[in-house]
Amino acid sequence: MPHDLFDNLPPDPPTSDGARSSPQERIEWLRQKIRHHDYLYYVKDRPEISDAEYDRLFKELCDLESAHPDLLTADSPTQRVGGMPLAELGKVRHERPMLSLDSIVDPSDVLAFDQRMKRELETDQVEYTVEPKFDGLSVELVYERGRLVRGSTRGDGTTGEDVTINLRTIRSLPLHLRSDSSPPAHLAVRGEVYMKLEDFHALNRAITERGEEAFANPRNAAAGSLRQLDSHITASRPLVITCYEAMAVSAQPPTSHWEELDALADWGLPIPSHRRRCRTIEEVIAFHRETEEVRDDLPYEIDGLVVKVNRRDWQEQLGFKSRSPRWAIAFKFAPRKEITVVQDIVVSVGRTGTLTPVALLRPVEVGGVTISRATLHNADEVARKDIRVGDTVKVERAGDVIPAIAERIPVPGESRSEPFSMPDHCPVCGSAVGREGAYYYCTGQAGCVAQLKGAIEHFASKQALNIEGLGKKTVAQLVDHGLVGSLADLYRLTRDHLMPLEGFAEKSTSLLLEAIQASKTVALDRFLMGLGIRQVGQHIAKVLAREFGSLDAIMNADEARLRSVKEIGPEISASLVSYFREESNRRVIDQLRSLGMVIEERQTSAPAAFLPLAGKTFVFTGGLDRYSRDDAKRLVEQQGGTVTSSVSKHTSFVVAGRDPGSKLDQAHKLTIRVLTEQEFTELVNP
Ligand code: IVH
Repeated sequence: MPHDLFDNLPPDPPTSDGARSSPQERIEWLRQKIRHHDYLYYVKDRPEISDAEYDRLFKELCDLESAHPDLLTADSPTQRVGGMPLAELGKVRHERPMLSLDSIVDPSDVLAFDQRMKRELETDQVEYTVEPKFDGLSVELVYERGRLVRGSTRGDGTTGEDVTINLRTIRSLPLHLRSDSSPPAHLAVRGEVYMKLEDFHALNRAITERGEEAFANPRNAAAGSLRQLDSHITASRPLVITCYEAMAVSAQPPTSHWEELDALADWGLPIPSHRRRCRTIEEVIAFHRETEEVRDDLPYEIDGLVVKVNRRDWQEQLGFKSRSPRWAIAFKFAPRKEITVVQDIVVSVGRTGTLTPVALLRPVEVGGVTISRATLHNADEVARKDIRVGDTVKVERAGDVIPAIAERIPVPGESRSEPFSMPDHCPVCGSAVGREGAYYYCTGQAGCVAQLKGAIEHFASKQALNIEGLGKKTVAQLVDHGLVGSLADLYRLTRDHLMPLEGFAEKSTSLLLEAIQASKTVALDRFLMGLGIRQVGQHIAKVLAREFGSLDAIMNADEARLRSVKEIGPEISASLVSYFREESNRRVIDQLRSLGMVIEERQTSAPAAFLPLAGKTFVFTGGLDRYSRDDAKRLVEQQGGTVTSSVSKHTSFVVAGRDPGSKLDQAHKLTIRVLTEQEFTELVNP
C-alpha cells in the first residue's frame, strides 16, 4: 500500500493569484506538495508527476519566497540548494556514542556468533534482522517535534562534525517527519550517506574532465561531498541516505529492530529496502549468499550485511563492548580479487605535468569488470610494493571501483626484470623531469603536448570557460595540427582554420567559433579555475574571487596576503605566487586580454537566481552589534541580495541598528519593511 504523505493536503489547490489564498497559505501548500513528491520520488522511488510538473511547483515556490522573504523558513524544500559557506564545521556531541561493528567474513564465524547469542540469552532460537552494510559515511540525525534540527558525522564516535546544512541538501532525507504518522517529539536516528554507483561514475567523469583528481571510490566521494564548508557543493553532488538505527526515541519504542525500521519508514525516513527477517542463522547465511550473487546488480556499493538480534529487549540484555554492540555483527563479503600479470609499466602525463606510473595488465575479470590497467599512483608506491614488468600480481576491487594492485605474488624460481624507475625525460615531449618528493613532473609546461592539451581541455570545461564543443577530441585536433599552441591561440582561430579539420562542417565551425566568442566575458572565479593553477579548483577560485574581487589584485598579492585568507594555506599561496611569477603565464593573460577577454570582477558565479535573497535590496542604518558593515554586506551578497546606501521605493528591507538615522524615517514613509538586527540575522542564517 503506498503511503499517502500529508493527508491534509488541500484537495483543491489554491491559486497563486491571491484571490483564494494568501501567499502564506499558498507557500505552505506548495511546500507540502513538494515534500510529498520528494518522498514519492526519492524515498519510495515511485513518482506520480512528471519532472516538468515538479519543476513548475518548485519554481512557483521559489518565486513566492523571493517575493516574500519574510515567509522563508529553513525547512522549505527550496533551502536544499545550500547556504552560506562556513569557515569550519562546528562540533556536535552525539546523544549516544556512535559505535562501530565487529566484522567477520567466514560463515563459520557467523555460526559462532549465533552460538554466543544463544548462550548469553539462554535460548535455542534467536531471530535476526539482516540488512546491507552500506559503504558510505555514517551520520546522526536529530528530529525535534518532527523537524530535522541537527545532523552530524560520526567523528570519533562521541563528537562529530555539524553537517546539518549539507544534509538538508539530500533529497531523500525528509526535513520534516510525516505529520500524519504521529512522529515522536524527539528522535535521534543513525543512517549512512552514500552515492549510487552510476552517479559516482558520472561525477568522476565530470571531475576528470575538469582536470581534477577523481575520487577513488563512492565512499570517498560521499565523504568529500558531505564534509564541505560550502553546502552548494554538497547540493550539486548526488548523495543519498538510508537510515538503519533509532538511537533515541521519546515515544514507546517498537519491540523489535524490524518494527523499528517500519516505524522509521512510516515517519517518512528512507530505510533499507533489501532486508530480511531470518528465524535461524542458516537463513542468514543463505541471505548472505543470495546477496553476494546480486551484489553487482545493486545500484550502490555494499561490502557485506549487518546481522542484528531482532528483539530489542534482547539487545539491551546483551549490551555493548567498548566500541561495538554485542548484538550485531558485520558479515562481510570476501574482497573481489583476481591474479594477473603486469605486461608493462607506462608513464602517463597529466594536465599539470604530473607523471603517473600505470601498470598495463593482462586483461582479467574482477567482479564483473574487465581490468587491463591499474594506476600505481607514484614512484614510491611502485617501490613499496616492488612491482616490476612481468610480475604476477593480485588485483583487487574491495569496495573500490577503481582497481588497485593489492600486492605482488612471488613465483618460486621466477627471474624478475629490473626494478621500475621513473624516466629522466618526459615520455611525451622529452623535456627534463623534475621532482618534488614522491611526485615527478614534466618541466615542459605548455611546450609539452600532453600538458597543453590538458590545459586547454580544462580551460574550456564546463566549470571554467564552458566552451561547448571544445572537448578532448577537438582539442587534440587543434593541437596536433599546430593551430593552437597556447590558451590565447583559441581566440585567434578562424573559419579557415577549422573547416579543413575532420568532422567540421559549416554548422559545427560556426557553433564552435560562437562558443569561443561567447566565452570572452567570464566571471573571475571561472577564469581563475580555468587557468589550471595547481591546488586552485572551483572552490578555492571562488574564495579568491570573493576575497580579492579582481584578477590583478590576486596576481599582485604576496604569499603573506594570500595566506591571510581563510582556507588559503601555504601550499595554495605558494602555488599561486609561483604561477603568477612565471613570465609565460603573465604573457598569456595579457594576450587573452588584448584579444578582448573581459574578466568580470564579480563576486561569484553561483546561480544567483536560486539564492534566497536574489532580487532583494537592503539598506543599513545605525550600528550593528554582531557584524561590521562590510560583513553584513557580504552576507547579503553571498545570498544573492544587494546593498545600497539610500532608501527608495525599490528597497526591500531597511535594517535598523543602534541609533538609526533618517533612513529609518524614510523607510516608514515609504512603508518599507524594517528589520531589527536579530531579524536580519535570522534572515541571512536560515
Ligand atoms: S548498525 C550500534 N547498520 O558500518 C549500531 N551500521 O563498521 C551500529 N553501517 O560505523 C551500526 N550499514 O557506519 C549499522 N545497516 C547498517 C549499516 C551500518 C553501514 C556502517 C556504520 C558503522 C560501520 C561499522
